[in-house]
Amino acid sequence: MEIIHISAECYPVAKAGGLGDVVGALPKYQNKLGHVAKVVMPMYRTKFLYNNAWELVHEGSQYIGTKWFHYSVIKEKTNKLGFDLYLVDINGLLDREKIYGYDDDSERFTAFQIAVCDWLSKWQHLPDIIHVHDHHAGLIPFMIKFCYAFRHLSQIPTVLTIHNGQYQGWMDWNKAHYIPAYDSWKWGMLDWKKNINPLASAVRCAWKVNTVSQSYMDELRYAANGLEDLFEYEKGKCSGILNGIDNEVWDPETDEYLAKHFSVETLEKGKRKNKKEICKQFDLDVEKPLFTFIGRLVGEKAADILPEAISSSVYQHQGNCNFLILGSGDPVVEGQLESVKQQLNGYVSTYIGYSESLSHLMYAGADFLLMPSRVEPCGLNQMYALRYGTAPIVRSTGGLKDTVIDIGDPQGFGIRFNEASVWDVTYSVGRAIDLYYNRKEQFQQIREFMMKIDHSWESSAEEYIKLYQSLK
Ligand code: ADP
Ligand code: GLC
Repeated sequence: MEIIHISAECYPVAKAGGLGDVVGALPKYQNKLGHVAKVVMPMYRTKFLYNNAWELVHEGSQYIGTKWFHYSVIKEKTNKLGFDLYLVDINGLLDREKIYGYDDDSERFTAFQIAVCDWLSKWQHLPDIIHVHDHHAGLIPFMIKFCYAFRHLSQIPTVLTIHNGQYQGWMDWNKAHYIPAYDSWKWGMLDWKKNINPLASAVRCAWKVNTVSQSYMDELRYAANGLEDLFEYEKGKCSGILNGIDNEVWDPETDEYLAKHFSVETLEKGKRKNKKEICKQFDLDVEKPLFTFIGRLVGEKAADILPEAISSSVYQHQGNCNFLILGSGDPVVEGQLESVKQQLNGYVSTYIGYSESLSHLMYAGADFLLMPSRVEPCGLNQMYALRYGTAPIVRSTGGLKDTVIDIGDPQGFGIRFNEASVWDVTYSVGRAIDLYYNRKEQFQQIREFMMKIDHSWESSAEEYIKLYQSLK
């Protein structure tokens, strides 16, 4: 089968979070299964762009509203990522340093989607599946179904994967003219509560919809940032497919960012060496259990409770714990974390920003990884942590619920709690400290067990193929 993935992110080209990881891995594993999966994304000004060789495969022009734009599509020459990678360049709109966060994001991503549809409609043959990811590609199922210019594509089955239903790409109706001429009777397929809602439109127009865990799919029917009724109504075509992790990128035996490589057999020594490196860099005590958080400092991740939960844990547990936080986001939370770091110097440290290398070192050197998320469609961090022998401490929600079993269970290996509250985190940290100091042997066995859990992409990649096949 030929599958075209359309996404705003793809690791290592451009990544802001887990969407990038998934789109950088799933196509590779689909190709390994004998299919032809390709990725199309915007051309941002990234290191990857400048460090690789490209060939021009197409040039075209289109309108967004009344503005004419020229676009070009370039292809990475060597198939370096294990799939064909195409970047769409639209001068002045897409070629910027950041992926998101500009005032004209609606215009940028709408123009991107118009260019992609225009390019695909020029192909000699039709691909078997168009697979769109999140709202940035969410207008495509509508466009190929109802825009006159792209009718040629309308028979291609479309699949939408929702990585995060909180963000929907809302646009005011005064931007309706951005969308190329379409059958105006169908305007309702774009609308949700008096806005153009690209995610809602994709849920309606895509042939199949999936989220990145089954639990998150269930949750969307009662908590979907306003789209609950839509998910209830469309439940017949919706399913959950759990993400995998790319075991080739996330391998403690070969990971280029670690201070020392390790396997299940050498885990104790290996983790200790990585922990030492972190403690040296951040002035923490290697003898104390190291609790970490890696992620966007936003409400979804419950980052707002971290400053208080950390101080409360250090006081309640009499300083028998250390914390290291890596992330950026809400400036208020960033400031509060910096204050906690000042107050509890030697117990708490932070790195406010994005660092791919530090994140790998932290998965390897930490004892525990905290994820108090209010919303977590899948979560990859906990799966990386498991692979590196770090015990996840998670709130029971979405994909966290589907991948972590509490140590209270005979099969358990992590710690789970119910509320995104200071008390639940403090209490869970206490349970972890107990495991670390008082049940060392059990902790060691749990770590070995966690490292052997298989969350590789093979089986999920196969599930996507089955989903596509159900559409043929
Ligand atoms: P989300 O996509 O909601 O942010 P995921 O758990 O799916 O959450 O994936 C987050 C990804 O982003 C992981 O690869 C994680 O290591 C990475 N990440 C998040 N914040 C940072 C950061 N500040 N520095 C480095 N990597 C980060
Ligand atoms: C989103 C979700 C996260 C998920 C990731 C990849 O950003 O917030 O839970 O793991 O996408 O699917």
